[in-house]
Amino acid sequence: MKRNWWKESVVYQIYPRSFKDSNGDGIGDIKGIIEKLDYLKELGVNVLWLSPVFESPLDDNGYDISDYRKILNDYGTMEDYEELIAKAHERGLKILMDLVVNHTSDEHPWFIESRKSKENPYRDYYIWKYPKDGKEPNNWGATFGGSAWEYDNETGMYYLHCFSKKQPDLNWENEAVRNDVYDMMNWWCEKGIDGFRMDVISMISKDQSFPDGKVYGGLYGDGAPYYMNGHRIHEFLREMNREVLAKHDIMTVGETAGVTIEEAKMYAGEDADELNMVFQFEHVSIGDGPYGKWTTNRYDFMEYKKIMIKWQEELQGKAWNSLYLGNHDQPRSVSRFGDDSEEYREISAKMLATCIHMMQGTPYVYQGEEIGMTNAYFEDISMYKDIESLQYYEELTGAGLMEPEEMMECLKLRSRDNARTPMQWDDTVNGGFTEGTPWINVNSNYSRINVEHQIKEKDSIFQYYKELIQLRKENEVIVYGSFTAINREDEKIFAFKRELDEKKLLVLCNYSKEETAFKVPEEFTPEKGEVLISNYRVNEWKEEMILRPYEAIVLTFQTVL
Ligand code: NOJ
Repeated sequence: MKRNWWKESVVYQIYPRSFKDSNGDGIGDIKGIIEKLDYLKELGVNVLWLSPVFESPLDDNGYDISDYRKILNDYGTMEDYEELIAKAHERGLKILMDLVVNHTSDEHPWFIESRKSKENPYRDYYIWKYPKDGKEPNNWGATFGGSAWEYDNETGMYYLHCFSKKQPDLNWENEAVRNDVYDMMNWWCEKGIDGFRMDVISMISKDQSFPDGKVYGGLYGDGAPYYMNGHRIHEFLREMNREVLAKHDIMTVGETAGVTIEEAKMYAGEDADELNMVFQFEHVSIGDGPYGKWTTNRYDFMEYKKIMIKWQEELQGKAWNSLYLGNHDQPRSVSRFGDDSEEYREISAKMLATCIHMMQGTPYVYQGEEIGMTNAYFEDISMYKDIESLQYYEELTGAGLMEPEEMMECLKLRSRDNARTPMQWDDTVNGGFTEGTPWINVNSNYSRINVEHQIKEKDSIFQYYKELIQLRKENEVIVYGSFTAINREDEKIFAFKRELDEKKLLVLCNYSKEETAFKVPEEFTPEKGEVLISNYRVNEWKEEMILRPYEAIVLTFQTVL
């Protein structure tokens, strides 16, 4: 397997709006990020991915960009961004930019021009269709609710928006669009960024016949089969690679909703000239129901384990995995996959981290995960800010498909705002995030769960993450070792082996709150193993083990040849 710096990295995702406010306006900003670089250095991560900080009317918190080359006032200036790059680089930290080019904002000059007339030179930058039988061109629903088509009076045609109506989809069939995007990307690379996280990049190639989609439980058809992993996607990415990526030493990760193993091998194959790695979505979609993510179903462990094992085993040696449990679109990982009760929060957060960080791939830490931040569990709909949560609340309760109380329960478990509450730095007002009024409520548990406390405490989640990240730097087997699942049928324990030359790791994670027995397979027992890390801080192990609630233990073996 080829050695690459991005395989050896740990990425930390910053959601700038909620990370650190430096000027008291209640909104996180770039100067706030600069203030915290030493904290991130201390944690040990070496790549920072920033969610978008560009000019935007903020319909979708910045994933609706109106100028790709300008920093939004809320976040600071281009000088601040340049200072961030320089100060990050001084500390050996790299910066990933969020590239949102499936769509722009409807306030982007390209769209302002495009909607003016059918003859406008920018008309074909977007996807315009005539009404069909006086209605939308097809039945596709938008990801944030409602139809994916918006009628525009000016020219009597509809434009496509797979997300909100303020996020019109770019027409990637148009070469001029692609060239403008590549120019912009090269411009950023020359400024010194170190790579791109590519927003919904699997959606840029659409089936040009725009057929109706299947209707599941909601009001609209599912267009995903016609716009995800479309027929020209790999051609576009290879072109992007030639025009931009191959010219710089950068890292790329594609957000590829709907990606399969076969597709992932094409996007991120060892010898593919496309991307370095992709985010798959299978494990974060477990339990989804007829209304998609709006359900109170909890995840099923066996299904989760099967999915994780499949991605590990099938990509190894062929493509590279991105390892994540949370991000700005997902609930807090400890609330979802672990147990955020007072009793088990710390231990289960450490167990989840052990499991993820010991797999093959590049781990991603989402801000606050390293201190075990939990879901917000907002009690009132007025506390939510996220367009997706608000639109679906209206749509599903409005159509009588769900009672408001039921939808509130779904939001508590799945709303994106669970991950977007401000970073909890200390136990002062607003968790030390801002001296003003935060744009979204701080989680009420900030006086108990915060960075200051976690740094002081000897055996905190933060200290544990630090150790895990350090171990990756010192043990090649964690990065490059092969992966083999062990005792696949075990209903509580996720066990696997990593192996590189004469080094072997055995990773055991109890995903339940019950004590669970585990017999170490014979292949390990003749060798003398040592505990590499353990969340209960044990330093001995036995062949017959009883793993306590959410216990995680990693054993290391050195074969004497
Ligand atoms: C995926 C991003 O992660 C999400 O936050 C955003 O709303 C959509 N793409 C649309 O850009």
